[in-house]
Amino acid sequence: MKNNLSNIKKSKYYLDKGECIAIPTETVYGLAGNAYSNKATLKIFKLKKRTKKNPLIVHYNNLKMLNNDCITNSVFFKLYKKFCPGPLTFVLRLKKSSKISKNVTSNQKTLAIRFPSHLLTKKLLKLLNYPLAAPSANISTKISPVSKEDVKEEFGNKIKFILDGGRSKIGLESTIVSLVNKPRILRLGGMERSKINKVLNKNITFDSVKKKIIVPGQSKLHYSPGIPIKLNSTNPKPNEAFILIKKRKKSYKNYYYLSKNRNLKQAAKNLYKILRVIKNKKYKSIVVEKIPNIGFGEVINDRLRRASTK
Ligand code: TXA
Ligand code: MG
Repeated sequence: MKNNLSNIKKSKYYLDKGECIAIPTETVYGLAGNAYSNKATLKIFKLKKRTKKNPLIVHYNNLKMLNNDCITNSVFFKLYKKFCPGPLTFVLRLKKSSKISKNVTSNQKTLAIRFPSHLLTKKLLKLLNYPLAAPSANISTKISPVSKEDVKEEFGNKIKFILDGGRSKIGLESTIVSLVNKPRILRLGGMERSKINKVLNKNITFDSVKKKIIVPGQSKLHYSPGIPIKLNSTNPKPNEAFILIKKRKKSYKNYYYLSKNRNLKQAAKNLYKILRVIKNKKYKSIVVEKIPNIGFGEVINDRLRRASTK
């Protein structure tokens, strides 16, 4: 991509002015703004129609800048060394001296942060003297975007610029681990939890159903195409879209394959893309065949369950 350098400079130009732009990451596209700016971060909430109570993830290029904002600890360094840059978000304590906008934290004393691995976004972050607050670049509760076209579909010309980094490699949001007290997984995602457990040499808890919602990514309706979804099902009607992970002998035009050979990583990558295609085809409902609840299968099931809440 020849124009990358000028596109990165263009991105910096808008961000420096306090505007929001869309940036590519390995998980999903983000709607980014200067995390130190009240003006830029307020715009993010407005564009996404997001409640101000739902804090944002901040994206860093290196530890040096992170040190201005967060208190780190030994568990953080263990995971950082192994997995960063990559699809893992940490919730850490915010430093009193941090300049992170109160909009970003929803006035809480913790901050969610990550180090994205997408090359263009890394290059962009390197040029900036502030980190980027960036939630997924979709209207609240809708399907997250995994390409420039998806972002366009969400926001039309309401945003100034989309830095095109091709299709997101992972296709699902980052895993969120809170290190504020005992390590806990708050959201399943692009970093398999078995890998985190292995590094920390213990099983970290993940409670998918919480009485008190800490991560609104855990709230009920999310990632939704806006039509009913039936899980663990077979035999769809012709006006229902059928999502599969393994090739059938006979396929019909309402059959949508996340994978043709039960490859769950590939299925995860295709999930949002296919939900978006189905949504645009105006089916009455979606039927999903049983997906094994292991590895990325667990993440896919988590997202489908939330997308299917009426
Ligand atoms: O992969 C990702 O994480 C993408 C890309 C763009 O980086 N971002 C993303 O952001 O998924 P968003 O806003 O769609 O989801 C962030 C989740 C929200 O559910 C939010 O409630 C939670 O992170 N969160 C943010 N700050 C938090 C905090 N201090 N404590 C607990 N949860 C927090
Ligand atoms: Mg989101």
